[in-house]
Parts: sequence; structure tokens; C-alpha cells
Amino acid sequence: MDSPTALITGASRGIGREVASALVARGWNVLAAVRDPAAAPPRTRPERVDMADADSIGALVQRLQAAAQPLDALVNNAGVYLAPARHIWDVNVLGPLRLTRALEPLLAPGARVVMVGSGLGRMSAQPRALARRLCAAELSLDDLERIAHDALGGYGASKAAVSAMARVFAARLKDRGILVNAISPGWVRSDMGGASAPRSVEQGASSVLWGVQLAADGPSGGVFEDGRPID
Ligand SMILES: NC(=O)c1ccc[n+]([C@@H]2O[C@H](COP(=O)([O-])OP(=O)(O)OC[C@H]3O[C@@H](n4cnc5c(N)ncnc54)[C@H](OP(=O)(O)O)[C@@H]3O)[C@@H](O)[C@H]2O)c1
Repeated sequence: MDSPTALITGASRGIGREVASALVARGWNVLAAVRDPAAAPPRTRPERVDMADADSIGALVQRLQAAAQPLDALVNNAGVYLAPARHIWDVNVLGPLRLTRALEPLLAPGARVVMVGSGLGRMSAQPRALARRLCAAELSLDDLERIAHDALGGYGASKAAVSAMARVFAARLKDRGILVNAISPGWVRSDMGGASAPRSVEQGASSVLWGVQLAADGPSGGVFEDGRPID
């Protein structure tokens, strides 16, 4: 059987790099979606993308389409924490929304999609008006795009939108056996998390990898950390 293929955004450093390296070690073909191809981890295939740039995402999707490259896993990991709200929402929300929507046809039957979320994205911690919009039962990708354009709030709010996005994609892709979840790595000692974080990059990556390697009867549309549901 051919090796499965995963696309991981933000594979240059931190949690994404560790997830990419772990999957390579387990025999996966890994497409490392990075801004600088020289920063891709060893034994991965670099794919240039800037997640804040719709044209760059479109170009990546076109390359994958031209190669008819099926994906067994998509890990939307690239993210920013300290930045103007517009940029946070572009990278953390609009980027994965655009990429995942455009890649839907290339996702293999039974593929796994992980949206890397955060404990700071807990719905209960968000302003009530935002939480109400994100929790609407009929929420669509177009609604999410409008919410992202409004960019109300910073990092935590953007990650709450990531959780809602996982729920919407899970419903869209259910009939193809594709499982989509938002997964928090916990507070991790990466460049983003800083040296005083309690968890190693490996621990954060392991939380994310759980979502890539879910059994076929695993959950979809939920928010998890270390395999346990969080709100
Ligand atoms: N660290 C934590 O404690 C923590 C906690 C909860 C959630 N998370 C989430 O975990 C994910 C990974 O975080 P991390 O801790 O590994 O962060 P990190 O060490 O700061 O790495 C961030 C990654 O995102 C990439 N990235 C940033 N902006 C990008 C853009 N415009 N286009 C493409 N790639 C871009 C970076 O690429 P460059 O090298 O090109 O900058 C880098 O690979 C993020 O979604 C983050 O929000 C982290």
C-alpha cells in the first residue's frame, strides 16, 4: 500500500515541525507548507505558502490539483499570537478556511483534518455576541468568512472561530468519512508559547497527532486536547 500523504501548514518550526517530523518517522509522505522552503524539515516536500495571502493559498492548491495529489491528512497548524487583529484573523481563520475549502476535492475518503486550536479559544471565554454567532446551529463557511472579516477580538477569539470552523467542515465532509476536529496542543515551549510554558513541543505535537491518527469511528466536529474534549 502507498504511504499516506499529509499537508501540514507552519511546518517550519514549533509544533508543526514536530508533527511533520513525527509523521515522516511513521512512514508518511509529508508536504511541508512553509513560507520559506529552506525551513522545511528533513525528508519532507516543501510547498511554499503564505497563509495570510489568498493568492498564495490559491497557487498552492493549483499545484496540488495539477498533480492530482490526494491528501490523507490536512493539519492547519500555522498561527500567530502577537499581531494586529486583522493579521491574526487572516492567518488563524481565513487562511485555514480558504485552504480547507479549496482542498476539499483532494481530501481522500476517510481523511483526517486537524484545525490547531487553543485553550484560549474556549467559547465560554469569548464575548457573548461572538460566541452566539459562532455557535449558531446553521453556521456556514460564508458566515465564518464574514466573522473573520469583522476580526472582532484577538487571538482567543480567532481560535474560538477555529473550533466553530472544525464543526462546520465536519458536517460538510461527514458523508465522505472525513473526520475534522479542532485540537489544542496545550501551552507549549515553542517560540509562540515561550520558555516558561509547562509542556514540551513534543507533548503539544502529540495532542495534534491524536487527531491525525483517529480511528475511523473516532469523533468529528469536536474540540480536544490530549484526546479529551474541551469546550
Ligand atoms: N505554543 C503554544 O503554547 C500554543 C498554544 C495553543 C495553540 N497553539 C497553536 O499551535 C500552532 C503552532 O504554534 P507554535 O507554538 O508551533 O508557534 P510558532 O513556534 O510561533 O510557529 C508558528 C508557525 O506558523 C507559521 N506561520 C506564521 N505565520 C504564517 C503565515 N502567514 N503563513 C504561513 N505560515 C505562517 C510559522 O512560519 P514561519 O517560520 O515562516 O514564521 C511557524 O511555522 C498555532 O496555530 C498556535 O496558535 C500554540
